[in-house]
Amino acid sequence: MMQEFLEENKNDVNKSPQKKTISTSGKILIGLTGGLGIAFSVICGPFVAPAFRKYCLPYVPATTTQLENILSVLKHSKTGRLLDIGSGDGRIVVAAAKNGFHSDGVELNPWLVQYSRIAALTQGVSGKTKFYRKDLWKFDVSPYKHIVIFGVEQMMAELESKLQMEMKNDSQIIVCRFPLPNLTASQIIGGGVDTVWVYNIKKTL
Ligand SMILES: *[C@@H]1O[C@H](CO)[C@@H](O)[C@H](O)[C@H]1NC(C)=O
Ligand SMILES: *[C@@H]1O[C@H](CO)[C@@H](O)[C@H](O)[C@H]1NC(C)=O
Repeated sequence: MMQEFLEENKNDVNKSPQKKTISTSGKILIGLTGGLGIAFSVICGPFVAPAFRKYCLPYVPATTTQLENILSVLKHSKTGRLLDIGSGDGRIVVAAAKNGFHSDGVELNPWLVQYSRIAALTQGVSGKTKFYRKDLWKFDVSPYKHIVIFGVEQMMAELESKLQMEMKNDSQIIVCRFPLPNLTASQIIGGGVDTVWVYNIKKTL
């Protein structure tokens, strides 16, 4: 069923002008992750309002090493809620919930949101997870102490200012793929595509 869905969309996209909207970084990501990444990255276009297409988060599954790196950061502080921005197939949210967090995901692609909810259910963490099908730019991130992002280069600066504005004192941003442009990372884990940058948000009175 999922396979059919992928094939169908791949064909759609090949015929449609949407194909041109794949950015350079999209192409790099596709190169890195292969087939499944391609199918999900290209279907990003049709689900996103035109104004946000530039900021659409392509779906590229987290690698096992990325997931381990993220969990190694999280094990130091198990309090507070976690949000995965562009939660894709939900694997980070589910893994965090299994590690004791109340964790939420926000994702624009309705198929992935459904997939995530089912994954959370079958893995016994549906009570500790929520998946929102929402535009991340309109999503209030202030209740979260830990925010995980698998970003795309073009959106990092804007995302950084949103997070800095909304997040509370003593919260944490964990970023994969591209670092935030202005904040200084307090910790850098791993290397290459698996690099994880950690930023601590400190607010002064
Ligand atoms: C980040 O740095 C750039 C260049 O130094 C600056 O123009 C921009 O306003 C900064 N953004 C934030 C959110 O501080
Ligand atoms: C922010 O959090 C730190 C660590 O918990 C605390 O020491 C500091 O006083 C807090 N700052 C404000 C403005 O509340």
